[in-house]
Amino acid sequence: MRIAFSLFLPTIAFGARISQIPFQEVPEAEAFQIYQSDYSEHHSIRIKQQQDDSLCDAHSKQYTGWLDVGSKHLFFWYFESQNSPSEDPLVLWLTGGPGGSSMIGMLQENGPCLITKDGNGTTYNEFGWSRNANLLYIDSPAGVGFSYLDEGIPLPGDSFTTAEDLHHFLQIFTGDVFPELAERDFHITGESYGGHYCPALGAQIVSQNLLYPKRQQINLRSIFVGNAYVSPVDTAFGYWETLCTTNPGVDSPVFNKTRCDIMASNLPRCLDLARLCYAHPDPAICGAGGKVCWDGVIKYYDSESGEGGNRNRFDISAPCQSGDDLCYLEPGWIQTYLNKPHVFEALHVPKAVANYSIYNMNVEYAFELTGDQGISLQPQVLYLLENGIDVLFYQGNFDLACNTAGNIRWAEAMPWKGQPAFVAQARKAWKHEGEEVGWYKEVKVQTGSGRETTFAVSTVDRAGHMVPYDRPGAALALVERWIGERSFA
Ligand SMILES: *[C@@H]1O[C@H](CO)[C@@H](O)[C@H](O)[C@H]1NC(C)=O
Ligand SMILES: *[C@@H]1O[C@H](CO)[C@@H](O)[C@H](O)[C@H]1NC(C)=O
Ligand SMILES: *[C@@H]1O[C@H](CO)[C@@H](O)[C@H](O)[C@H]1NC(C)=O
Repeated sequence: MRIAFSLFLPTIAFGARISQIPFQEVPEAEAFQIYQSDYSEHHSIRIKQQQDDSLCDAHSKQYTGWLDVGSKHLFFWYFESQNSPSEDPLVLWLTGGPGGSSMIGMLQENGPCLITKDGNGTTYNEFGWSRNANLLYIDSPAGVGFSYLDEGIPLPGDSFTTAEDLHHFLQIFTGDVFPELAERDFHITGESYGGHYCPALGAQIVSQNLLYPKRQQINLRSIFVGNAYVSPVDTAFGYWETLCTTNPGVDSPVFNKTRCDIMASNLPRCLDLARLCYAHPDPAICGAGGKVCWDGVIKYYDSESGEGGNRNRFDISAPCQSGDDLCYLEPGWIQTYLNKPHVFEALHVPKAVANYSIYNMNVEYAFELTGDQGISLQPQVLYLLENGIDVLFYQGNFDLACNTAGNIRWAEAMPWKGQPAFVAQARKAWKHEGEEVGWYKEVKVQTGSGRETTFAVSTVDRAGHMVPYDRPGAALALVERWIGERSFA
C-alpha cells in the first residue's frame, strides 16, 4: 500500500432513528428485529434498539445491528437527531482507509459520545454531528470493524462494489426499517478514503434512482467529504506545496531546500506515470505509478512517520503520538473499549466476529490489488454535479496525507459549467463566533439536471486530517452551514 500513495487512514461513518416504525414480531433470539427486503431474498437487516445510554451517552435514541447483503454483513450504529428527529436530515458517515472502522469517526471525531482515556468508557460530545441530524455510521466495506463476511467469500476490493452494498443497505434502511426517513434529505459524508467511497456511493445512488424509478429511491441531496482522497495524482503533487511552503499555515516550511529540490525533480515522472493509471486502470500500471511517487516524493515524509519516526502524516504541526501508522492514541483506546465483554454483549456481536479491530490491513491490500487506490473519483463528482447533487470538500490545512493543495488542484481542473467561475473566484474568509476559521470558494450554477447546483471547497486553519477532532466547534459549524444553507457567505 505504500505503493499507492494512500494508506490514508481514518475516515468514518454514522447512524439512524425510529418512532412509529412498523416493527414486527421478533423472529430471532431476544435481541434483534429482522426486516426482509422486498426486492431481494438475499437482503435483510437485524436491528437492536439500545435501551439505555450505557455504551454511549448520546442524548437521543440509538440503534445498532447488521445488514445482511447476501454473504456480507455490515454493522451500523444509528443515532437519532438530538434536536428534531422527525424533521432533520439523514447523514451517513464513512471512515476511510480503505480498512478503517467508522467507529474512529464516531468515537474519536464527531459522534454524540467520544472515547475516554485508555478506552475505559465514553463521554458525551457537545459537538457531535447528531445535534441537528439523524446520524448513521457504517463499518464499510464488509471485513472492516464489526462488519464481516461468510467464510470463503473474498473481501470487497474496490469503491464500486462497496457502493453497491451500501446502496442496498440504504434501500432497506429507509424503505423498510425507518420508512419515515425515505423522504428526508440525505447526505453522504466521510473523510480520507471517503474521497473515493462518497463519490462512488453518490453516483451509484443517482444512477440506480434513474434506472429503477419504481424501486426504493434514495433522496440524496449532497455529499461533503473532509480531507478527501479523490485524485491520487494531485495528492502527490500537493506533497511538495504542503512540505516546502508556508501555505498550510506554518511559520516555516517543514522540509529544507535540499529535500524540496529532490522532491520537485522527481515529481514530473511521478505525475506522468500516476496519470497513466487514470487512463488505463490496470493494477500493474497503477502500482508502478504509485511506486515511483512513493520512492521519489511521498517517502521523504511518510517513511519517517509512524513506526519509522516521529512525523505525523495527518498533521504536519503535530508529533506521532502512538508510534504506529495512525499516530493518535484514540484508535487504540477505541479498540480496547469495543473489545470489552460488556460491549460485545450489549451489541450482541455474532460469533463470526471473534475480535473487533480498528483497522483491517487485508482490506487495504485488497483495494491495492485492484488498482482502486490509484484511480481518480473526479468523474463521479462531475456526474453528481451534472445530476443536481451539491458537493463540498472541506480541508484541515495541516494535513499532508490528503492535503489541501492537491484537492484545490483537481477541483480547479474539473471541466464543468461551474469551472470558470470557480477558478476566477477569490478565496474569502469564513467565520465562526467572530473568529476567522479558514477560507472558502463556492459556485452555484444550473447544471444538466435543471437544478441550481452548489460546488464548494472550504478550509479550516490549525486542523489536520481529522477536522472534527482538532476543531470540534468549527467542524460542527461548517457542517451545519452546509446542510442548512449550502453557503459559507
Ligand atoms: C482504565 O482501565 C485500566 C485497565 O483497563 C485501569 O488500569 C485504569 O485504572 C482505568 N482507569 C480509570 C480512570 O478508570
Ligand atoms: C535537510 O534535511 C534532511 C532531512 O531532515 C537532512 O538530512 C539534511 O542534512 C538537511 N540539509 C541541510 C542542508 O540542512
Ligand atoms: C484482537 O485484535 C487485537 C488487534 O488486532 C489483538 O491485539 C488481539 O490479540 C486480538 N485478540 C484476540 C483474542 O484475538
